[in-house]
Amino acid sequence: MILTLLLSAVSCLQPPLATQGKFFVDVNGEKIHLHCSAWSGVHQKEFLNYGMENQPLSVLADNFKSAGFNCVRYQFSAQVVKTNPVVNTTLVEKYNPQFIGKTALEVVDSVFAELSKREIMIILDYHMLDAGGCCSPLDQNGGWYNSRWSKEDVQAQLVTMVNRYKSNPWVIGVDVRNEVRSMYDLIGNTQIPNPFSLFMPNWGQGGSWDWAVEAERLGNAVLAANPNMLIMIQGFYQIQLSELWFWLTHSKNNCRRPRIPQVLTLDQIKRRPINLNVPQRLVYSCHTYDFFYDFDVYNMTYTEWKSQTQYYWGDVADLPDVPFFLGEFGTNHNADGLNTNFFKYLMQYIKEKKMHWAYWAYEGTYANPNPSQCALAPPSFLINEDRTMMNSYGLLNTTYNGFAYPPQLAELQSIMFKDI
Ligand SMILES: *[C@@H]1O[C@H](CO)[C@@H](O)[C@H](O)[C@H]1NC(C)=O
Ligand SMILES: *[C@@H]1O[C@H](CO)[C@@H](O)[C@H](O)[C@H]1NC(C)=O
Ligand SMILES: *[C@@H]1O[C@H](CO)[C@@H](O)[C@H](O)[C@H]1NC(C)=O
Repeated sequence: MILTLLLSAVSCLQPPLATQGKFFVDVNGEKIHLHCSAWSGVHQKEFLNYGMENQPLSVLADNFKSAGFNCVRYQFSAQVVKTNPVVNTTLVEKYNPQFIGKTALEVVDSVFAELSKREIMIILDYHMLDAGGCCSPLDQNGGWYNSRWSKEDVQAQLVTMVNRYKSNPWVIGVDVRNEVRSMYDLIGNTQIPNPFSLFMPNWGQGGSWDWAVEAERLGNAVLAANPNMLIMIQGFYQIQLSELWFWLTHSKNNCRRPRIPQVLTLDQIKRRPINLNVPQRLVYSCHTYDFFYDFDVYNMTYTEWKSQTQYYWGDVADLPDVPFFLGEFGTNHNADGLNTNFFKYLMQYIKEKKMHWAYWAYEGTYANPNPSQCALAPPSFLINEDRTMMNSYGLLNTTYNGFAYPPQLAELQSIMFKDI
């Protein structure tokens, strides 16, 4: 009895988590800082985590743990949940032959089992509707419906995913929709943009593009299935018409992501706060990369950069009663990447705020969209992705048995706060 009590007193993390002020607490009331990494691939067209063709799952999970992360932000699509295809034998036969003939979600089950065994928490990230890479406005995946996925269907796949892992307490939360942004849909299965399908998200201004209303609806649907889930709600991109015009007129270039910041301003939150049906569940979130800034971040002082970032989402990150999760950021895994003002400023900012975060990304390779395939085409039309491109932001190297640039990992370890 005493031994059990002692053990539970010293034992670490016990999920599920709840929010408490700006922090998270586990079932014992221990404060938890989230320091995570994305490990993607399941949202792509091969429906499989990167690295499965390079190393055994146990090695991939061991390296994730040894890096010091306590959670993974895990990408999936509506398509993988709904179609759940058998995974590509060529990609698993060498290092993970146990997955030959298994479906995509059966492989995810095994990944989650391995991560949970190592006490890694899992945040489900609803990254895409159609399987494929994110995030150009012409991928038709910027909203919560398109011509192939109805609102109801999009919600149903999310709830199916939540229900599938309901009995695993290490699955702690859901990022209900990734990087909501303006988009055009196409006319049916053609390559022709539908001018009547323009989608321009707003926050609390009503109509069918109101992301605050939709995020709340998705969050409450998740909580109805599993009231223990944390609900991550991201800001969105207010893409200018000029940006949309650029994409339409440079169709070969439309793989590029928005060159504008993702925002969630204090004004938006005050005007239209999110109200979930279960208390202590809500988390606000935004992403940032240097290529989001349309001004010369490299020549800004920290003070200038900080005041800009405060407006974008930093004021919301300072709210005393809701945790903020920097759900994506990244930089090149070399000395140049670490020495950019952007990365140095962001590291300082994260330290000042003791921010919760997820790095993008763990994997050493990724599927590079072939520029010729970036012309107006729903991601589902693209096949045979090449997964062997080096991921210049990747923590792992391309053989997945070592880290690409140890000083980069050391930087991240310096923001894995223990003393919160
Ligand atoms: C920063 O400013 C200097 C001098 O104005 C300029 O030469 C340089 O190109 C700028 N850096 C970048 C990354 O644009
Ligand atoms: C399976 O993956 C291999 C290697 O990337 C690829 O060449 C092949 O086309 C894929 N098979 C299918 C059916 O997509
Ligand atoms: C990845 O790192 C491991 C361990 O340091 C090393 O053995 C391997 O050669 C590296 N792979 C590449 C492509 O650099």
